[in-house]
Amino acid sequence: MGLSTALSTGLSTGLDTESEELVIRLDDVSKTYQHGSVPVRALSHVDLEIARGEYTAIMGPSGSGKSTLLHVLGLLDAGYEGRYELLGEPVSGRTAEELSALRNRQIGFIFQTFHLLPHLSILENAELPALYAGNRPARECRAAARARLEQMGLGSRLNHKPQEISIGQRQRAAIARALVNDPPLLLADEPTGALDSKTVAEILDILGELHSNGTTILLITHDRDVSEATERTVHVRDGQMHDGRLSDEPRAPLRETRRP
Ligand SMILES: Nc1ncnc2c1ncn2[C@@H]1O[C@H](COP(=O)(O)OP(=O)(O)OP(=O)(O)O)[C@@H](O)[C@H]1O
Ligand SMILES: [Mg+2]
Repeated sequence: MGLSTALSTGLSTGLDTESEELVIRLDDVSKTYQHGSVPVRALSHVDLEIARGEYTAIMGPSGSGKSTLLHVLGLLDAGYEGRYELLGEPVSGRTAEELSALRNRQIGFIFQTFHLLPHLSILENAELPALYAGNRPARECRAAARARLEQMGLGSRLNHKPQEISIGQRQRAAIARALVNDPPLLLADEPTGALDSKTVAEILDILGELHSNGTTILLITHDRDVSEATERTVHVRDGQMHDGRLSDEPRAPLRETRRP
């Protein structure tokens, strides 16, 4: 079975495809880092809507706030102002434990430099989010990780450590890890930034297949070829987002959420 068949048959988003539904909704989100005594405004009044199944690129100059935005979206940073709804539920004000459980189930992460643990095999790396979720026996976690790695064409490399496989294979292993819990949302910070052009094309093929299969994908890129492979590009400049809304119609404000 080819990669593309395996991807289209093997993945489920766990969600129906109600196209109007928003996976992400940010309303007036701002983030200030305190750098010593100097405040650094990294995000300023950001509104962003991402519909279910969308494939979106975020572009903007270095330092414009893209990674900060991805950290907020990925529930890695809760220290912001404004409101955030993920899959229709407010996330602001949740405890750290609630956020990490939500992150583990709903979001897969892909990074520029893979973030694979060097002392573990790629099979052990890929099964980690499944083990962490704690809702399946260990052998099922391993089977899910193996299946994902096989879909990524890494079936013959399961017991290799990250440094024993090529750069492109490392990114495919990282994608297998991101998919092991079948998350409906994939977030990627420069997923092709460390790759040569042939490998970039390979990773874009994989992301394109995941998109056709219903996964919502949001990626940061500096590469116009990569943004052109997506359906929509939003631009960040000086912490401000342009074209973040799906329509120009004003929306009702999000309901107030619990505050810590
Ligand atoms: N931990 C931090 N402490 C203080 N300032 C920070 C921190 N992280 C980021 N910043 C600042 O916030 C702003 C936005 O940074 P961010 O990393 O989000 O930019 P970026 O768009 O991802 O840039 P790049 O394209 O270089 O990755 C920058 O001015 C940066 O210096
Ligand atoms: Mg960045």
